[in-house]
Amino acid sequence: MSSENRELTLTDEEKEMYEGKMGSGTKKAIRILVSLAKIYGAKQLIPISSAQISGVSYKTIGDAGLEFIQDLPRDAKVRVHSTLNPVGMDTERWREMGIKENFAKKQLQIIEAYTRMEIEASMTCTPYYVGNRPKRGEHIAWSESSAVVFANSVLGAYTNREGGPSALAAAITGRTPEYGLHLPENRKGQVNIEIKAEKPLNFALLGNAVGRKVGGQIPYFTNLKDFDPSEDLLKHLGAAMAASGAVAMFHAGELTLEYREGYSPKASKITITEKELEETQRLLNTANGEIPDVIAVGCPHLSFEEIRSIALLLESMPAHRKKNLPGLWLFTSRGVKERAAEYVEIIEKYGMVIADTCMVVAPLDELFTTTATNSGKAAQYLPSFNSQRVVFLDIQTLLLRYL
Ligand code: F3S
Repeated sequence: MSSENRELTLTDEEKEMYEGKMGSGTKKAIRILVSLAKIYGAKQLIPISSAQISGVSYKTIGDAGLEFIQDLPRDAKVRVHSTLNPVGMDTERWREMGIKENFAKKQLQIIEAYTRMEIEASMTCTPYYVGNRPKRGEHIAWSESSAVVFANSVLGAYTNREGGPSALAAAITGRTPEYGLHLPENRKGQVNIEIKAEKPLNFALLGNAVGRKVGGQIPYFTNLKDFDPSEDLLKHLGAAMAASGAVAMFHAGELTLEYREGYSPKASKITITEKELEETQRLLNTANGEIPDVIAVGCPHLSFEEIRSIALLLESMPAHRKKNLPGLWLFTSRGVKERAAEYVEIIEKYGMVIADTCMVVAPLDELFTTTATNSGKAAQYLPSFNSQRVVFLDIQTLLLRYL
């Protein structure tokens, strides 16, 4: 090996990849990983069981990104189960969404380039609902921040927050450098969080508030169990913390798998009170009382259970008065949408259930100016990614107030 990776030991198979004996796509990919291993001081590459690749919307990667993927060697194929993050449109209903022809053409080319590498076009940030659900202790290379924090915390899998190119390189080689959250000693809580707030707790709001405080540290929630979160609420919590901070993992007592080994009594302590939550709520609401153009729900992508409960909520509402009031767009994966078909039918009386994309990576700025959402991640990103003014409220209030 060259002197650049003196610290790193590669297996014989990895050396063959490095020397190009296993194809030019694999050579390019392993060289990316070797460079990263050097930067982060990894001593070896480790096998992964799955990869999840972000940076796939034409809105976010543009022509430069499309060219990069199309220019990858034709022999580049993935070695492990690999799935795609949401793209910029529903691949079947993009016209109904108001997506322009040229955008759609480029987006389909991006998807085609990825599927050529045998990456599954699941186009979701919740791959764990549709067949890519790693088990405790599995090493994976995922890049969508909300999926990373969910996988590390709720599923107990091991992943760093990969970039799109490093996740793709991991997918092609079936390896990732061993550093960061792949090492048990780096998975301990770094700041203990106590919540002093009333029930019901808005987990998306809590996540956004905590992310602002802890940045990239690992929070350990000491009393989250008192607020009875479901797995879906933990998903919202993690997604919001990853967006307002850079949280890639959290612990929450027995609600998360590594609560014993993750607890550190020496960690610093933060208390989150109603006051912090109210302040965060105020910061996220930037619409100044305007009626939103659209209610966008499903960041992260909705689960079957969430779709079911929204359908039941809509049905229980008084005969709706939808006249010049906002549209309703719900986002999920195609797999969950198909499974929840009976509830999707109910929701479609009120709005659209959209697959493959989301309110952040679709070109919403070309369609709307004010968006209402219940997501602590979307509320964080919509102003900068999509120039939206934001109404941020819990789902029940949103639907009752605006539909
Ligand atoms: Fe998923 Fe899009 Fe939100 S990728 S987590 S729905 S920003």
